[in-house]
Amino acid sequence: MARLIDGKAIAADLLDRVAVDVAAFRTRHGIVPTLAVVLVGDDPASHVYVARKLAATRRTGMTSIERRLPADIDQAALLAQIDALNADAAVHGILVQLPLPAGLDPAAILDRVAPDKDVDGFHPVNVGRLSIGGSGLVPCTPLGCIHLLETVIDDFRGLKAVVIGKSNIVGKPVSLLLLEKECTVTVTHINTRNLPAIVCTADIVIVAAGRPGLVRGGWVRPGAVVIDVGINRVPGIDGRSRIVGDAVTHELDHAAAVTPVPGGVGPMTVAYLLANTMRAARMAHDGNGT
Ligand code: GUN
Repeated sequence: MARLIDGKAIAADLLDRVAVDVAAFRTRHGIVPTLAVVLVGDDPASHVYVARKLAATRRTGMTSIERRLPADIDQAALLAQIDALNADAAVHGILVQLPLPAGLDPAAILDRVAPDKDVDGFHPVNVGRLSIGGSGLVPCTPLGCIHLLETVIDDFRGLKAVVIGKSNIVGKPVSLLLLEKECTVTVTHINTRNLPAIVCTADIVIVAAGRPGLVRGGWVRPGAVVIDVGINRVPGIDGRSRIVGDAVTHELDHAAAVTPVPGGVGPMTVAYLLANTMRAARMAHDGNGT
């Protein structure tokens, strides 16, 4: 049986550490680190994710500001909201929940968030800093994936990592982080030819393709570590829907370790949002984010 990497417990530890940092920061500066969350429209999954993020914010002792905006808000009005948060010195982190409703231009909106408050790490300046190994804010899900890997792997140098998925949120940034750790990284996607044969060569498999059941047991070599980023709602046998990942976990007994869905990467994404907000507050007030 492959070891299950308990993302829920590991994320809880990280949040506890962030809470200690929040308390120390408050003592030092008399200021509470503050995260602003912008949620546009009524996407039910986004509402669930934002509720989790706000609950975790409270748990760390940070302050949160919520901006719930109607789905029909126009681009200029949304940009004005972001400008106001950028200009507010009491706000350290800004997150615009994705996806945005049709009619809004996500690239222009993410561009508008001040890079030093961009706790999602989606602004082109932070993407650029990541690509040259700099010290910008890094996207939360990739940071969570690396943290989970570090609980089971000591030395990454020379390991073969295969990433399935080329999104800006996960696939591309996690590939850069693995490269920074001196893995040999292959970035693949749903149209990659001979995908199973490529995945079979990996010591580390990160799957973020949004395809339930994509990675089968026969794709994974014995002793590999599988990080499943997928969150897919599928019909359950009892008529109710359930959440599954992109890998068929029960076929992965021969892997060294796998992340469950739910309870693997998801809680880490939330925890790193708060870790990034803490970093942004330090960058603003201590002059460094370490
Ligand atoms: N939607 C899905 N994942 C994310 C994320 O990491 N950040 C934001 N802002 N929206 C998302």
